[in-house]
Amino acid sequence: MRLTTENKAGHAENIATEMRVGVYPGSFDPLTNGHLDIIRRASTLFDKLIVAVLVNDSKKNPLFTMEERVNLIKKCTKNMPNVEVGSFDGLLVDFVKANGSHAIVKGLRAVSDYEYELQMAALNRHIDSCIDTIFLMADVQNSFLSSSVVKELAWHGGSIKGLVPKEIEKDIVRCVRVRKNKDSQKSEG
Ligand code: PNS
Repeated sequence: MRLTTENKAGHAENIATEMRVGVYPGSFDPLTNGHLDIIRRASTLFDKLIVAVLVNDSKKNPLFTMEERVNLIKKCTKNMPNVEVGSFDGLLVDFVKANGSHAIVKGLRAVSDYEYELQMAALNRHIDSCIDTIFLMADVQNSFLSSSVVKELAWHGGSIKGLVPKEIEKDIVRCVRVRKNKDSQKSEG
């Protein structure tokens, strides 16, 4: 819906009253404290924030299943009323448009993230010029944090305390242990 008002100069002005929807996409393999911080902050910028989990990534081979990744995020965002968790396959811009949004949210940790994210933001705008990417700077204490670091630590029995939300710490360790057992059974058999 659009409301038309008159500004000081007497010109008609359209004020958008549609719900502002943001999409925060990623692999979330698994969710970390860095992701959750971006979700919390982005949720204050939009009426609705959709955390969009990529189902299949041709470059990465996720350790956690899509259901596991979605459930871990749901568990940590259950007290955030305007946050929804979804999953998508295919092009991100298609998911964004299908959900009535034109804003992609991404977190930036360091200069090393910048080059790739700049390319992705430009590519997505090339595909659809209505779609913008909004970058939030990661909190300094999360600047070294990534899902890969969490997986590697958990895989080798290191502590992931303080790196992932408390409520999913045990779930992550359990999932990694199950994967590890499966892997060793495969290599033995
Ligand atoms: O957490 P990640 O791995 O940095 O997330 C990357 C993600 C999911 C945002 C990116 O891989 C993506 O958008 N994939 C969907 C396919 C797509 O739209 N690619 C851009 C055009 S080729």
